[in-house]
Amino acid sequence: MGCMPMIHLRDEVAADWSARETLLDAAFGAERFLKTSEALRAGRLPAEGLALAAEDEGRLLGSVRLWHVRAGGVAALLLGPLAVDPAAQGLGVGSALMRRALNRAGALGHAAVILVGDPAYYGRFGFSAGLTTRLLMPGPVDRARFQAIELVPGALTSTAGLIVGTGALAAPSLVTPLAPAPAFLPSAA
Ligand SMILES: CC(C)(COP(=O)(O)OP(=O)(O)OC[C@H]1O[C@@H](n2cnc3c(N)ncnc32)[C@H](O)[C@@H]1OP(=O)(O)O)[C@@H](O)C(=O)NCCC(=O)NCCS
Repeated sequence: MGCMPMIHLRDEVAADWSARETLLDAAFGAERFLKTSEALRAGRLPAEGLALAAEDEGRLLGSVRLWHVRAGGVAALLLGPLAVDPAAQGLGVGSALMRRALNRAGALGHAAVILVGDPAYYGRFGFSAGLTTRLLMPGPVDRARFQAIELVPGALTSTAGLIVGTGALAAPSLVTPLAPAPAFLPSAA
């Protein structure tokens, strides 16, 4: 009794930054910086109104962001990372964040959302790999994990080609730090 968090969903704010980095490290480990999706996000700002946080009494329990991309010739969103604090997984936090994000993306007029993730999880929200067969990520991707959902029916049916990041560039101080530089790199003289 009493373990279920009172999940509060809200927009992400700058004060979440450090707790969010800790959460992502716990959920994904350092390999998170090497994902192909990261190339579409690095140095850019998330889409307006589409960086969401889940908290319980001031503690960050979950995070999701969506990013502007072009998918072939069509404007779309890339979703990710979605992460939930390991201590709060399986309680509905991820699903709540997904539903809020997809509802809001639809209300804002976005036509489609793309992601790379576990089909066994994302299928329940309507994502399907069948919608990305003619799309390409800018790097290696497991096709079974490369999925999309149309918020406007037919939005992706006639598009083909590369996914490109199109979001506004972040000011340098707001850019998520890249993985630690290899020690053998010469330091700037
Ligand atoms: C995946 C993740 C975001 C789900 O959030 P969550 O709050 O734990 O999930 P929810 O409580 O909303 O949903 C739980 C359900 O999802 C299922 N689920 C969780 N992770 C899953 C996965 N990777 N594959 C398939 N199903 C999964 C659970 O079995 C459970 O199923 P049930 O509803 O049939 O009982 C979270 O577990 C997480 O951060 N994991 C580590 C990072 C990660 O893998 N992120 C997703 C990128 S692919």
